[in-house]
Amino acid sequence: MNIYYDPTQKVFHLINGQISYVIGILRNGHLGHFYFGKALHTNEAMNQSQFREDQNRGLTNYVYEGDMGFSLNIEKLEMPCFGSTDYRAPAIDVQMESGSSIIDFIYEDHNIYAGKKKLEGLPSTRYEDGQDVMTLEIKMIDPVMGSLLILSYSIFRDYPVIARNSRLIHQKSSSIRLKRLMSLSLDLDDSEWEWVQLYGDWTRERHIGTSPLHHGIQSIGSLRGASSAAYNPFVALKRSSTTEENGEAIGISLVYSGNFLMQIEVDGDERARMLAGIHPQGFEWILNEGDVFQSPEALLAYVPNGLGALSRTFHDLFRSHLIAKRWRNAPRPVLLNNWEATYFDFNEQKILDLAHGAKELGIELLVLDDGWFGTRNDDTSGLGDWTVNLTKIPSGIKKLSHDIVESGIAFGLWIEPEMINKKSDLYYSHPDWVIGDPDRRMSHGRNQFVLDYSRPEVVDGIFEQLIRVFDGSAITYIKWDMNRNITEAFGRGLCAEKQGELMHRYILGVYNLYERMIERYPNILFESCSAGGGRFDPGMLYYAPQAWTSDNTDAVERLKIQYGTSLVYPLVSMGSHVSDIPNHQVLRQTSLKMRSDVAIFGTFGYELNILKLSNEEKNEVTQQIEDFKSQRELIHKGDFYRLISPFNGGGNQTAWMVVAKDGSQAVVAWYQILARPNDRTTRLKLHGLDEESFYEVSGYEYPLSGRYLMHLGLLIRPSFNGIEHSGDVTGDYQSRLWTIKK
Ligand code: DGJ
Repeated sequence: MNIYYDPTQKVFHLINGQISYVIGILRNGHLGHFYFGKALHTNEAMNQSQFREDQNRGLTNYVYEGDMGFSLNIEKLEMPCFGSTDYRAPAIDVQMESGSSIIDFIYEDHNIYAGKKKLEGLPSTRYEDGQDVMTLEIKMIDPVMGSLLILSYSIFRDYPVIARNSRLIHQKSSSIRLKRLMSLSLDLDDSEWEWVQLYGDWTRERHIGTSPLHHGIQSIGSLRGASSAAYNPFVALKRSSTTEENGEAIGISLVYSGNFLMQIEVDGDERARMLAGIHPQGFEWILNEGDVFQSPEALLAYVPNGLGALSRTFHDLFRSHLIAKRWRNAPRPVLLNNWEATYFDFNEQKILDLAHGAKELGIELLVLDDGWFGTRNDDTSGLGDWTVNLTKIPSGIKKLSHDIVESGIAFGLWIEPEMINKKSDLYYSHPDWVIGDPDRRMSHGRNQFVLDYSRPEVVDGIFEQLIRVFDGSAITYIKWDMNRNITEAFGRGLCAEKQGELMHRYILGVYNLYERMIERYPNILFESCSAGGGRFDPGMLYYAPQAWTSDNTDAVERLKIQYGTSLVYPLVSMGSHVSDIPNHQVLRQTSLKMRSDVAIFGTFGYELNILKLSNEEKNEVTQQIEDFKSQRELIHKGDFYRLISPFNGGGNQTAWMVVAKDGSQAVVAWYQILARPNDRTTRLKLHGLDEESFYEVSGYEYPLSGRYLMHLGLLIRPSFNGIEHSGDVTGDYQSRLWTIKK
């Protein structure tokens, strides 16, 4: 890994064993983008003429008199700005006091160093493991505006990834209005790519959608104040021939949890410009002399070998550089969450009974969900009052938590610190802490409103309340929920000029509370949640190493949700529970086996009244937990391979597997939703094994070679072929698991 600079050619080359990223200073001082893809040679000549050609395009506008070979509209650019000869969407938009929005940032100097800096107030990939990251910072200046723009590029030794961010520093006495500052702009040579996005809704999060690029702009984003279930801040670009195992793919992931925009523009020359960053809609930030605006970090990955490799790149990067060190190797506890077991209808004894029952089954953590505080007996009241409800929990949280821990199981607690119900003491004392325009009606969402986290006093107030609960309690896990999005985005703590800052300041306030909580309780494991998976993004993962994947706990629905989520996020980050039947979201009845076979591909836990299980079911659950514990390290640290997509071919089957990094063991799962009459035997080809080794496969009498398993595959016999019954699980909603050991 290295970053080279050729001062005569003014070319930068960021390279590791897998990728090269080449940029250069164009003749007007702007930064040109030359190449991103498979690693070039380290001795590659860096002549600009090798990467870009002056083209006399006759009719276009051009930068210098008489120099028709140089027009920004046909250059590939690193931080395109509007106002000169580039008419495509810009990455930066600023208005000066004069009213002018013409921008012209010119290269000033640069700095190359080992490591990477933490972004002030924002989550970003971490540097703490020695010399495995290098950074190039390029300083650009617009003297008329009086501002510096610092473009930062970090390259990781072990990953085909560049981390980018932009920082604007204003240095002039007249103020500027920043209207857009993208974290990343990437100009691609051609538009022969397909756009792969994760879209959805509540209980249908992160389904995979693929479409070809077309002329003009296509985009995803959020204006909800959270990254949202509608679109995830991730896009992959792939060739139409790219599969899970072969072909080029580029992934762009934004380390941010608020309003975002990801867009691609295909121009008449069939080039494509990708932009990713904070959504400019409603955004405006005023910078006075000395003020700095820092963009979130964007991650850019390139692989030549398929979407599976792209996913494994993000999984590894997130596990090694995003998730906090404290949790990287810590086994994630098997938990029981009381939500779907009791909803709001619980008392201290019920919780103790669940804890004791859970302990008997081998569960390691009891999570007390919504309803333990204030006057919270349903979702109309209590949010904002973080004091224990003594009617429900007469001993208080401190004593309850210690009692539970003494009984041999850890204790975790649910909070929703960004929200407030009108029926709460907090609303009575601070009605103005709510986001909303006092001159207008406030829209509703789950009977609650959003607290204005752009105001430090609001964050302080909630922090003070929370620490009164957590100090001295035996709590080792927090589920941090967030159940509605922002509407009527108006902050009463901000003056008229600064209303455009609200949404970003809100999420900075959320990050700030996370920082303070983590600093005070370094041993608490956080799980983020937003009405299920409505804020499942890298920004959250930086603070909360796991996220509740979806409120939909149905095993069949979870196939799509977990499969889609795995496009970017590692299994160790996906909250996944076995719940009751009929399932509470879709009323489907699936076997206990299938529910567990799906849920083990995540952090794993249970969310049902375990006390009502029959003895037979309890034995099955005990076995499931024992089996999971023996595979936990493999599932959480191994390489994930998607084998059959629920988004293809009618979606009746899904299969995936996890292989240990050293290829020594694996676990494979196959699922079928509806039984097929007169079905045939098929084969499931595996991946990631060692071709030359032999493996013991559960259910097989003789060891099988890696070659056999990968090129011939496991046999999938129908459970019933019209004549014979295989004795395996029957009918609809089937799942099969194989364990494989060298
Ligand atoms: C939404 C979450 O996703 C659920 O798991 C549960 O915690 C409820 N909120 C509680 O109100």
